[in-house]
Amino acid sequence: GKIKSAEFVVSNSEVAKCPKNPIPEYAFIGRSNVGKSSLINMLTDRKSLAKTSGRPGKTQLINHFIINDSWYLVDLPGYGYARVSKTSKKKFQKFITNYFEQRQQLVSAFVLVDIRHKPQPIDLEFIQYLGESGIPFGIIFTKADKLKPKAIERYVEDYCQQLLKTWEELPPYFITSSSKKIGQEDVLNFIKATNEE
Ligand code: GTP
Ligand code: MG
Repeated sequence: GKIKSAEFVVSNSEVAKCPKNPIPEYAFIGRSNVGKSSLINMLTDRKSLAKTSGRPGKTQLINHFIINDSWYLVDLPGYGYARVSKTSKKKFQKFITNYFEQRQQLVSAFVLVDIRHKPQPIDLEFIQYLGESGIPFGIIFTKADKLKPKAIERYVEDYCQQLLKTWEELPPYFITSSSKKIGQEDVLNFIKATNEE
């Protein structure tokens, strides 16, 4: 395997308390239940490094995992969870934007998108926000096991068309399935390439 070690480091509710060592960091964001925590387990070949659940809203904090003693993967809470109040939504937005705006170590964010759902305003808005803030990001399509190859191709094409309405260039994107272990190498290669720059 490409990953020799993967360990949980710390959970935080405040960006200011996150690890201080200036090593490269990659963060996973997206709607609740899209598969952020599952993807971290898939990428690291660990069954339950990050806690997953069938119920949305499982991850509530900023979770740092150290990989090969040299870089971090960061599991974040999901956005767009319908059953939370307006006030906690606001609070959550602040927490997330603080993270993205203050984390100097962040090499790239990954916005996860469920490959079964057509482009959602909340995801497009978040992508817009990252782009405008100059925060590098890639898009990870999740749960590819739920569609046939032809449908995946069509979906990704449509999604790219949608993005090209606003952006001149497409971000890097990846097709993944955590249950079928699809896309592991692609994502890890991207991380490796950006890590060594
Ligand atoms: P929050 O922490 O609540 O924001 O969710 P999350 O984005 O971390 O999602 P999580 O990894 O906990 O997974 C949510 C559900 O989706 C679980 O029931 C997973 O088993 C399922 N799931 C995740 N990845 C995949 C996948 O690639 N394929 C399929 N079929 N199911 C998946
Ligand atoms: Mg989670």
